[in-house]
Amino acid sequence: MNAPRHYLQFKDFSRAEYDYLFSRTRWIKDRFKRYEPHHPLFDRTLVMIFEKASTRTRLSFEAGMQQLGGSAIYLNTRDSQLGRGEPVEDAAQVISRMSDIVMIRTFEQSIIERFAEYSRVPVVNGLTNEYHPCQILADIFTFIEHRGPIQGKTVAWVGDSNNVCNTWLQAAEVLDFQVRVSTPPGYEVEPERAGLYGTGHFVHFDDPMEACRGADLVTTDVWTSMGFEAENEERMRDFADWQVDEDMMKVANPGAVFMHCLPAHRGEEVSADVIDGPQSVVWDEAENRLHVQKALMEFLLIGKVDKDRS
Ligand code: CP
Ligand code: NVA
Repeated sequence: MNAPRHYLQFKDFSRAEYDYLFSRTRWIKDRFKRYEPHHPLFDRTLVMIFEKASTRTRLSFEAGMQQLGGSAIYLNTRDSQLGRGEPVEDAAQVISRMSDIVMIRTFEQSIIERFAEYSRVPVVNGLTNEYHPCQILADIFTFIEHRGPIQGKTVAWVGDSNNVCNTWLQAAEVLDFQVRVSTPPGYEVEPERAGLYGTGHFVHFDDPMEACRGADLVTTDVWTSMGFEAENEERMRDFADWQVDEDMMKVANPGAVFMHCLPAHRGEEVSADVIDGPQSVVWDEAENRLHVQKALMEFLLIGKVDKDRS
C-alpha cells in the first residue's frame, strides 16, 4: 500500500500544487454557485475529530464532503475513547480502516503527526497549537479573488504569533510574498516553531503601525487562542496596544483588505469599524473555507483533475 499524502502544515504542498488548488477552487465554487452537482467523492467517508471547539471548520468540512457526494462523521474527545486515553497510534489505525480521509483539530502538532504516521488514509490539519493551514488556503484564495496574485505583496500581521500567524509565515516562503509581524514583547515569532526555512520573507516590527504601513493585507486574530485560556487576563494587558483600528488601516495601502479567521472579539484585537468596514473581507474568507477544502479533499483523494474532462 502506498503511503497516503497528508496536509499537516502549509509547506507540505508546493507552489505548483497551490496554483492547481486555487484554480480548481475557482471551478468548484463557480459550479456550486450555479447549483450544478459535483460528486467526485461519492461513497467516500470523512471522519472529523475535534479536540477543540469549532463552527467554521466543522461546518465547511461536513457540508463540503456532502456536496462532493460523500459523508462525514463527527467525533469529539468528550464522547469517544480519544478522551479516555486510547493511544493516538491505535485510534489512527482503527479510524483509517473505516474511512477515506480524516480531519483533526487538536493541541500539539506532534499529535497529528503521530496520527498521520499510523493512518492508511490522508490526514488534514483542521488546526493545531502550531498551525492552521486550511485557514490560510482560504485566506489566500480570498486575496486572489479580490486583488489578484499574492506573489510580491505585503501582509501585515498584528497581534499574537499563534498558529494562524505561523501559517502565514510558511505561506510567504512557499508563495513568495512578505509578512510583517508586530507582536508585544515576549510574544515574538519563534522561527523554529513556525517551521520556517529562513528565506527572508518575514520581518518583525516593534510598532504595529509600522508593520501596517504600505501593506496590501492587514490581518489579526484573537489575543488568546484555544488552549491558552489560563493566560487570558495577562494577555488582555499585554496586547492592549495591538488592536487593528482605523489608524492602522489608514497607513496601509489604500487598496488593502482586512482579514480575520474568526471568531473575532470586537474591541480587543480589532475595532468594530474595521471588521465591519468597507475593507473587511471576513465573510468571503469564511465562505471560502468551504470551497478550498472541497478542492483539497478532491486533490488528496483523487489527485489532479483535468477540468475539461470532469
Ligand atoms: N476560523 C476557524 O477555524 O473557525 P472555527 O474555530 O469556528 O472552526
Ligand atoms: N488562533 C485561534 C484560531 C481559531 C480559529 C485559536 O487557535 O484559537
